[in-house]
Amino acid sequence: MLVLPENTGGPNTSVAAVIGDPVSHSLSPRLHNAAFAALGLNWSYVACHVPKGQGAQAIEDMRTLGLRGLSVTMPHKGEVALAVDALSDTAKKLGVVNCVRVEEERLIGENTDGIGFLDSVKSQMGIEVDDLRVVILGAGGAARSVALTLAENGASVGICNRTEESALELVEMVGKASSVVDEDAVKDAELVINATPLGMNANDPMPIDPSLLQNDPCVVDLIYKPAKTALLEEAESRGLETLNGLGMLLYQAGEQFRLWTGEEPPINAMAESVGISI
Ligand SMILES: NC(=O)c1ccc[n+]([C@@H]2O[C@H](COP(=O)([O-])OP(=O)(O)OC[C@H]3O[C@@H](n4cnc5c(N)ncnc54)[C@H](OP(=O)(O)O)[C@@H]3O)[C@@H](O)[C@H]2O)c1
Repeated sequence: MLVLPENTGGPNTSVAAVIGDPVSHSLSPRLHNAAFAALGLNWSYVACHVPKGQGAQAIEDMRTLGLRGLSVTMPHKGEVALAVDALSDTAKKLGVVNCVRVEEERLIGENTDGIGFLDSVKSQMGIEVDDLRVVILGAGGAARSVALTLAENGASVGICNRTEESALELVEMVGKASSVVDEDAVKDAELVINATPLGMNANDPMPIDPSLLQNDPCVVDLIYKPAKTALLEEAESRGLETLNGLGMLLYQAGEQFRLWTGEEPPINAMAESVGISI
């Protein structure tokens, strides 16, 4: 049960929020409020529906309201990157922000998606990514964050995407640890990541032909609704280790919590709030 400090909601409460459109489905309020309660911090976190096109205005409102932290979700990640006072190196490379922190009244844009993914596979699958051969399916926002972090941590990353031009752009951003590959590269991969939306709907086609999963790779799907996509089911039926995207969501929130409060995130309490066992 969530137990808040007695004075929560008073003038000394630090407030953080998530902005998105839509935002009603967001698990972030559960994750962050569980973390604040677990450490007895006088903080509170709310979800705010901010219509598309008003992300920059929300940053000005953050200053006026004195919010201490902001999570940013679709469709505001790019607009917010242009509206903050400065960007972390990662957010600058990606051009998108999923978190804003306050440093001496300046608003700093961060991106915690890649580190969230890395922490998730390390802690939930015991994977060390140095020298790992990875294939990422997709080249959109999630693929970009994950590819950059994996390459910065020593993995060699193949990008397999429907539109080759986007894959090339991603490889240009990530640098020499990455390359554009076709589906066949999955045969040789040690880690395969689905970063496309294929699998969210029951009648979606598979993102790859599952017979390519020949080298006993670990398979991660960034989708977490449904908890088990057809790709994960196929991989499991072949005896492969699998993971969905809920862990990435959890750990990226943990990193945001760390940036805002300076405290070690209470990951177990956060995981419990969304029903994951880690
Ligand atoms: N677990 C987490 O914390 C987390 C965080 C972020 C995202 N996600 C999930 O990751 C997935 C991707 O999100 P995103 O924000 O990266 O989306 P995005 O920016 O729209 O990118 C989607 C990518 O998937 C490809 N794609 C889309 N439809 C396809 C199809 N029918 N066939 C083949 N490829 C297709 C696109 O290829 P083209 O370039 O050809 O269009 C693009 O590369 C979503 O399922 C999202 O829910 C999870």
